[in-house]
Amino acid sequence: MRIILLGAPGSGKGTQSRFITNRYKIPQISSGEILRSLLKEDSVLSKKIKKFMNFGILVPDDLIISLIKNRIQKNDCLDGFLLDGFPRTVFQANYMKKQGIKIDFVFEILVPDDVIINRIIGRRIHLRSGRVYHVMFNPPKQNNIDDITGDPLIIRGDDKIEILNNRLFEYHKKSLFLIDFYKYESYINNIKFYKIDGTKEIFEVHNLLSNILD
Ligand code: AP5
Ligand code: MG
Repeated sequence: MRIILLGAPGSGKGTQSRFITNRYKIPQISSGEILRSLLKEDSVLSKKIKKFMNFGILVPDDLIISLIKNRIQKNDCLDGFLLDGFPRTVFQANYMKKQGIKIDFVFEILVPDDVIINRIIGRRIHLRSGRVYHVMFNPPKQNNIDDITGDPLIIRGDDKIEILNNRLFEYHKKSLFLIDFYKYESYINNIKFYKIDGTKEIFEVHNLLSNILD
């Protein structure tokens, strides 16, 4: 099972990825998490990535493609994978197509921008694992503490309102073409493309997705 989750920042891609990967025993490949783990290093690459992520704009296609390519080649991806945040441009999507990487399902999670702002303001994450919480909608058992490790939770560096505006702008600008790309692929190839109402509660969105995938 090879799945792509598309959706604006804060639409719930990371949250739903956790459910799906647990249910279907496939790895989650999150481009954002791969990039954030590199940011922790003191390297030329990390400095390059920071220049883009700190402004909420997409990193160059060739950079993210080489990172994802390495990840997809690992053995745990043989029986499938879920891509969270990749592809983000038609160039990235075309790269996968040209490489013969077959995709079974593409979901576009739809959430309006005004709902997204509240989600981003209240988001807290556990950096090492990528676990995602929300102070109101998905709170940890103990205030600001990761349920599994007991580590403190953090606010993502790009979850500031001015950076969020850039991220939303980037998403709306680039996703139009990407959505068209997959709509077309669903007609000519065997890719199943679905739009999902992401404004429902977390478990309801999960049910919408698993009803299709089951
Ligand atoms: P990335 O990390 O992918 O960020 P994003 O796309 O902006 O998406 P988010 O992670 O912010 O949101 P999400 O949809 O995962 O929502 P979540 O589940 O956390 O990318 C970061 C940066 O990396 C980019 O800006 C770019 O610079 C770079 N990058 C990444 N991929 C790239 C690529 N392919 N090419 C180039 N550059 C790339 O949920 C959000 C909050 O809402 C949480 O608090 C959650 O608890 C809550 N929530 C979730 N669902 C619900 C619900 N149904 N109801 C109520 N609350 C909910
Ligand atoms: Mg995410």
